[in-house]
Amino acid sequence: MAEDPIRVLFVCLGNICRSPLAEGVFRSLVRARELENRYLVDSAGTGAWHAGEHPDQRSVEVARRNGVALSGHARQIEAPDFADFDYVIAMDRQNLLELRTLARSPQDEAHLHLLRDFDPEPGDGQVPDPYYGGPDGFERMYEMVNRACAALLDHLEEHRLDRTTNEK
Ligand code: 4NP
Repeated sequence: MAEDPIRVLFVCLGNICRSPLAEGVFRSLVRARELENRYLVDSAGTGAWHAGEHPDQRSVEVARRNGVALSGHARQIEAPDFADFDYVIAMDRQNLLELRTLARSPQDEAHLHLLRDFDPEPGDGQVPDPYYGGPDGFERMYEMVNRACAALLDHLEEHRLDRTTNEK
């Protein structure tokens, strides 16, 4: 029997800089490991200001330089996302606080994580907002997002194997 895919939603403020990059990087890591059938990946923002826009050109560029294509349009997170996604992954603590206020149950809250909690070099635990900074902010963002997404995928694959073993 086919396993249900693991559903992962990356969340930042505007859904044009950090979370589309995390979505694209994670998707590309999934593809490189030939796990496309096992993951559903999306991103959203806690704010609606940029809804409908393409990712910020600076994120598109840093992704492209690293062999990752970004696509999609920004959207604001909605209450059903908490049930529709197994993992709702915030870029910074402010995103996490906003998400906690939107969560409607302990089950919703249990889906919330900070991306850099998976980072082997977590720094202060956040992916800083690069929107008003210079280009090196986007390079640093790529490094942390790439490292954390690789570790997140390792974690999810280990967890999935645990689940499969427990079901036997
Ligand atoms: P993001 O970056 O949350 O990584 O998409 C931002 C994008 C837009 C704004 C702030 C952060 N803004 O204030 O419009």
